[in-house]
Amino acid sequence: MVCLGNICRSPLAEGIMAEKLRKAGITAQVDSAGTGGWHIGNSPDKRSIQIALQHGIDISTQQARKVKPEDLSTFDFIFAMDQQNYRDLVNMAAGGPEQNKVQLILEYAGMGTDDVPDPWNGDQQDFIHVFNLLDEACTKVLQKIKNQDINNI
Ligand code: 4NP
Repeated sequence: MVCLGNICRSPLAEGIMAEKLRKAGITAQVDSAGTGGWHIGNSPDKRSIQIALQHGIDISTQQARKVKPEDLSTFDFIFAMDQQNYRDLVNMAAGGPEQNKVQLILEYAGMGTDDVPDPWNGDQQDFIHVFNLLDEACTKVLQKIKNQDINNI
């Protein structure tokens, strides 16, 4: 799960997806990172921690990190929160086959091509909106993953 700062959107996406996989009894490695390095080592934004906790998900122990080229080989799916993250990740793939793993999360979930809006400069209402978008998206991602043979990716 990749956003810009790895403190607002992608930590929520990581926490929500991990919880859905756990509940579904699917073992998978879920992680998040940012395309920018300003917040490396920091906890998620308090507002993300709060909205997640309200849904029974603890993301407080996550630590921000920057996405690295090896991530593109480590993970089967690379989900970008917005168009800019998507472009940065495709550029990181440098024309290699791994660029096909990069997906805009809402588009992959069949929810249109909009960005998951950056709530950093917003208020708690914006974080609620982001949570709800990601909760729906992760449900749909889980459904798609269940319906395909992961070994053929
Ligand atoms: P995120 O939000 O990409 O959802 O983590 C942001 C957090 C921090 C900054 C930008 C976006 N920033 O510029 O520091």
